[in-house]
Amino acid sequence: MKFDILTIFPDIFDSYFNETILKRAQSKKLVSIHIHDIRKATADKHHKVDDRPYGGGPGMVLKINPIYKTLKKIRQKKISKIILLDPAGKQFDHDRAKKYALLDQMTFICGRYEGIDARVEKIIDEKVSIGPYVLSGGELPAMVIIEAVSRLIPGVLGHKDSALDDSFSRGKDYVEFPQYTRPEKFNKWAVPKVLLSGDHKKIAKWREEQVKKAKSRRGKNV
Ligand code: ADE
Repeated sequence: MKFDILTIFPDIFDSYFNETILKRAQSKKLVSIHIHDIRKATADKHHKVDDRPYGGGPGMVLKINPIYKTLKKIRQKKISKIILLDPAGKQFDHDRAKKYALLDQMTFICGRYEGIDARVEKIIDEKVSIGPYVLSGGELPAMVIIEAVSRLIPGVLGHKDSALDDSFSRGKDYVEFPQYTRPEKFNKWAVPKVLLSGDHKKIAKWREEQVKKAKSRRGKNV
């Protein structure tokens, strides 16, 4: 999968993409990530990426020309999608991540929340939001989506079943049971005795109960 990101803050991405599973995914050539600085496609000597809105009003609006020019430069032949990150877009979720994981290429345009020239609508396939809250720009949302999608690309996660084991792959309702490791007692918090019992039936039952409890808490969003 090839990911292209259009941004005015290219340096934001470096450390995250060069650590974690995404680093391995790139070195295994399962994923490639290309950051494009929109500013480099500006025509004027001040490299202006934004301007005042027509009709007046506060704030600045990201210009369409450098975005268009950058997109043309990276035009794709493969099955691809151009996404504008936007808090008013379609909600990103696990099902959407699964669909995206089947593509060959994705392009993300990171808007700034103050605004982007509305003609961007003519060149994108969809607007996507990572949640019902407003961030200052699309950079974090692009990272979130790239991470969630990459995890679903075969071979990206170390153990072949790891992605299947994730809560959402087992359906929206699935919750994991609590896990513990050494030490057996930390401060005054002890590992539940049943987990040390060696009785696998009892352990399975206990885990089931914990999942039920977690689901009922989740239903109440507490
Ligand atoms: N840009 C600003 N806020 C956003 C959000 N919640 N999702 C996607 N893009 C955004």
